[in-house]
Amino acid sequence: MRNDRIVYLKDYRQTDFIIESVDLVFELGEELTTVGSQIRMKRRPGASPDAPLEFVGDGLQLAGLALDGKPLLPERYECTSDHLTINDLPADDAFTLTIKTNINPTANTQLLGLYRTNGVYSTQCEAEGFRRITYFYDRPDVLTVYTVTIIADKAKNPLLLSNGNLVEERDLGDGRHLAKWHDPFRKPSYLFALVAGDLAMIEDRFTTMSGRAVTLRIYVEHGKAERAGYAMDALKRSMKWDEERFGREYDLDIFMIVAVSDFNMGAMENKGLNIFNDRLILADPETATDDDYARIEAVVAHEYFHNWTGNRITCRDWFQLSLKEGLTVFREHEFSADQRSRPVVRVDEVKFLRAHQFPEDGGPLAHPVRPTQYMEIDNFYTTTVYEKGSEVSRMIATLLGEDGFRKGLDLFFDRHDGGAVTIEDYLKCFEDATGRDLSHFALWYHQAGTPVIAARSSYDAAEGRLELTLSQHTPPTPGENDKKPLYIPLRVGLISPNGDDMEPSAVSGGERTGDVLHLTESEQTFVFEGLGAKPTISLNRDFSAPVRVRFDQPREDRLKIAGAESDLVERWDAINGLALEVLTHATAAVRAGRSVDTDSALASILIETAEDGELEPAFRALALTLPSELDIGREIGEDVDPDAIHLARKAVFSAIANSGRASFARLVEELREDNGFSPEAGSAGRRALRNAALAYLAEAEKSPLPARQAYDAATNMTDMIAALRILAHQFPGSAETSAVLADFRQRFDGEPLVLDKWFTAQATVPGEATLDRVAELMGDAAFDEGNPNRVRALIGAFASSNPTGFNRPDGAGYRFFANFILATDPRNATLTARMMTAMRSFQSLEAGRREKARAEIERIAGQEDLSRNLRDIVNRMLK
Ligand code: PHE
Ligand code: ZN
Repeated sequence: MRNDRIVYLKDYRQTDFIIESVDLVFELGEELTTVGSQIRMKRRPGASPDAPLEFVGDGLQLAGLALDGKPLLPERYECTSDHLTINDLPADDAFTLTIKTNINPTANTQLLGLYRTNGVYSTQCEAEGFRRITYFYDRPDVLTVYTVTIIADKAKNPLLLSNGNLVEERDLGDGRHLAKWHDPFRKPSYLFALVAGDLAMIEDRFTTMSGRAVTLRIYVEHGKAERAGYAMDALKRSMKWDEERFGREYDLDIFMIVAVSDFNMGAMENKGLNIFNDRLILADPETATDDDYARIEAVVAHEYFHNWTGNRITCRDWFQLSLKEGLTVFREHEFSADQRSRPVVRVDEVKFLRAHQFPEDGGPLAHPVRPTQYMEIDNFYTTTVYEKGSEVSRMIATLLGEDGFRKGLDLFFDRHDGGAVTIEDYLKCFEDATGRDLSHFALWYHQAGTPVIAARSSYDAAEGRLELTLSQHTPPTPGENDKKPLYIPLRVGLISPNGDDMEPSAVSGGERTGDVLHLTESEQTFVFEGLGAKPTISLNRDFSAPVRVRFDQPREDRLKIAGAESDLVERWDAINGLALEVLTHATAAVRAGRSVDTDSALASILIETAEDGELEPAFRALALTLPSELDIGREIGEDVDPDAIHLARKAVFSAIANSGRASFARLVEELREDNGFSPEAGSAGRRALRNAALAYLAEAEKSPLPARQAYDAATNMTDMIAALRILAHQFPGSAETSAVLADFRQRFDGEPLVLDKWFTAQATVPGEATLDRVAELMGDAAFDEGNPNRVRALIGAFASSNPTGFNRPDGAGYRFFANFILATDPRNATLTARMMTAMRSFQSLEAGRREKARAEIERIAGQEDLSRNLRDIVNRMLK
């Protein structure tokens, strides 16, 4: 089937024609929009003189075609809804092609191309949406200059936006008006954007480091302008930071962000006109949580940073996606670390990577950071391309040092500005700038799978010598059985008995720079000389490499790291590791019908850390929060029984709550914040710690009252939703829970983004009964199956974050989900394919559930007319 074609990296070749410029004219109509495209082009020097021009389309209807102003005779071209081929074009001379297409923005439920929802026209062109607007070379290596004219009804669409600078604005006298935009920077079609409608706006200014004034505008729905202030603040901080940290200055006179309510992804970096999912722009204390604020800050920065990493320098082809995404996530992570607490931000990154990327890398959808083939590129906007890609750039920075990394990146910007390049081009810049050979390191881009590092050590007291043997292996991934050893930078700390870091007099066995060991072979022994006492070994400090570490370390060493390690990331990891160990043992006990042994050492370390005033509250909150049921399932890895995990976690949670009751009560009391709300990270950390303590306190008191009181006293959404969640999850069915759920629903009627939190809190209540509740909530007036945020908040959250509810032993959760996916696939394939990945780890379930899950995935795969997106995902899941 043509639809199932696979694209291979090795087939890359340049186009036969070069596009010099394109002029687009949009006459916007709700059901009929006409798009006129005037393309100045010529044959590429060296291309075959009789090669035809081959443009792509997707579901298009051709309404006109002319060459140099003269209509083309039908025998000169061939056209279907998905391609346009033109023969006998000039061999040398430039020519102008004029193409007219008709499209229907209202019928576009895929939210890809030009669509109209909620009265607003907007576009989404990455990766292959431009071909749903007009026939074109819709590929990232074709860069050209765009001029865009938009004509629309003025009353309904006072606002007409596209990329670049506004060059003309005019009334047409017939109720319509016109705006013309010109973007002087050559760009690929995926960065094209258009917005039209009636929106509110806030404006600010930024003066760049060379003194240029830039106008900043954020457009949102009417009535929500006050909620855009934080995003604007984050934007200005991002612009400043990119100048200071990487020397990158903004390049147009205006930078615009538009928030839309129907959007498949988080946000999009269109040149000069970013388009955002409104949940990543709108925030005020009453409607947004601290996590929302942090996400908004990060994503505003991420999209802004793309202006250099992605837009000024773009990808040669979609296999290079991580060139822009991995690097931009790394820049975003560094920005967040500088704006907030570096170790806390890093721990969040580690948690995210382990929760999402490791399972992807260890499951049926595993792929390298730089894949070599795909069926549907939309399915490669993955945590591997994004987050593992970021970790790979981070490792380059670790190997080269901050200066070396900056030199390499400066060279990259210098050498490739205006270009469409590859991962190899990127790496070459670091090599050329520092003289370091990265050929072995490059394997990180090409080999899938999460490496496992096994460590063992021996200490010779008489000689003061430590031997540390590190071996690495990467488990097989689909289609790739033989894995080679990687080049791994591993930060290693040696902690003395009094808690200080020890510096050996000499180290042999491999390269070491600072505290970084360079692992290059499948097994290596590093020898550290001149140690005065036996050290405690801390491996992978700051999570220097995205690997799993297996180190059978004495418990006393692990407790020492958990209680005193100066590297807070490792300290958190040791605490988390102890908790996971207790929780997996408890799960085994539940399954064996034994009573759960609730370890008192774990309780002490959690409570002591939570009470440690030397540590920042956000870190204490992280330490206090037990691994989730999903985390425990991933740690167990096979034959997973979600119900046993639930019971085990509950028992351990309850034991900790009881033994720390007085401390939790004190924390809840002391951390009461009376002097108003600030979204700043320190303040957010105190709320996080207080709410973590509140969950334990409610458990210890076996009463919904503390959470009910917290809900009533809350002055911000963070505290409010935390209390609501405690009630819904720990006291399901109580009168307080029902009252609070009803109050919240009514209070935030007409606030869909807030009600998403209400949907999610209920969809994630553990237990069999939730399925019926989810089905019932689909009938709530606030639920809209056409809106991706609503769908993810309710059905997505149920499938991905409710292990006991979704994995009901009778398989009813899977059946419900599969029915929903099948019903929704024709409407929005990007959404269904992404949601389907919630089931990618089904093989790790115990046999009964696994086979029921498989049957539902097979039922989906057996349907005739699946979207290519969904077909690709289910086929790979079943391989
Ligand atoms: N390029 C966007 C980002 O990461 C993500 C995106 C991909 C958005 C595809 C829409 C469609 O910043
Ligand atoms: Zn991005």
